[in-house]
Amino acid sequence: MSIEAVSWSNGKVKLIDQTKLPGKLTYVVTDDITVLWDSIKRLVVRGAPAIGIAGAFGVALAALKSRAKNCQALKKDVFKAADYLATSRPTAVNLFWALGRMKQAALSVEAENCGSLRQLLLEEAIHILDDDKMRCSEIGRNGERLIKEGMGILTHCNAGALATGGSGTALSVFFSAKRRGKKFTVYVDETRPLLQGARLTTWELLREGIDTVLIADNMAAQVMKEGKIGLVITGSDRIALNGDAANKIGTYGIATLAKAHGIPFYVAAPVSTIDFNIKRGREIPIEQRDASEITSCRGKKIAPGNVKVYNPAFDVTPASLIAGIITEKGLITPPYKNKILMLKKKKGCYGGK
Ligand code: MRU
Repeated sequence: MSIEAVSWSNGKVKLIDQTKLPGKLTYVVTDDITVLWDSIKRLVVRGAPAIGIAGAFGVALAALKSRAKNCQALKKDVFKAADYLATSRPTAVNLFWALGRMKQAALSVEAENCGSLRQLLLEEAIHILDDDKMRCSEIGRNGERLIKEGMGILTHCNAGALATGGSGTALSVFFSAKRRGKKFTVYVDETRPLLQGARLTTWELLREGIDTVLIADNMAAQVMKEGKIGLVITGSDRIALNGDAANKIGTYGIATLAKAHGIPFYVAAPVSTIDFNIKRGREIPIEQRDASEITSCRGKKIAPGNVKVYNPAFDVTPASLIAGIITEKGLITPPYKNKILMLKKKKGCYGGK
């Protein structure tokens, strides 16, 4: 059974509750956008493309539930919902990209009939979901050749089906290589503080029968030194025009270690993860999260409650450490700026924007 992190079911948004994995596969099913906002904030749904898709469905829900009597009032409610959902998490640009597409869709029609505008918004959200499925498959195809027989590959956080509308970004590359019959081992960083690697990535890889080795985050250097890693692939939450890429906290450290050991470090992401409005990584807003994520682990206190905590959820890997960016429109290598701008113009082979 394929994993559907976000789906539309009988007029409601259905989310796999990722906070409960791998222990329990349960769902949050809601037509309330405050519940959706909270689900994004609490990482019930997480991963850059998936939160974009969830946001798009949130806007469609707001339109369907709005009591507005005319299209102008309906559009106002739609914009209000999009602005509200945009406050849930700041780093992954896919959220703002998807909310922007929903606003654009609302503006694109001179609908006299509120019903058709509501329908159009739901169709746009479903289109964003379907589109992401195709993007994931193409990323898998475009990155698969990097994986050589017998290789060890390191990944960080979760950039799989749980994080997207399809088979993932970094993990889609592994799934594609596996389908081609290649044998390889994926080393998975546990990814403190919220353990997306340990809880989610290992769960997804094992389901697909991929040889998987879980390591604690602080073991990456040793594993590289022992010659076990030939390649690193991670996802991204926002890529700047110069190729700097934000991803889960710890990614920058892994990229630095990879450089020190002569191991190529790749980022896999759809074009919807590129922020064409920012020149470099330092402009990317980094989400700061609650201290309790550091002082506790899976609900158990592990530090004195009154200790000061710093908890940035993401870091930015400079383009100089990135050997290539695998997108649905091809794999690009440094220097990035012009190639990234070309990606914007290039049509996806599936017709995506
Ligand atoms: O805080 P999270 O779990 O939403 O962080 C997710 C990541 O950092 C992923 O690597 C990124 O969103 C890419 S997902 C295809």
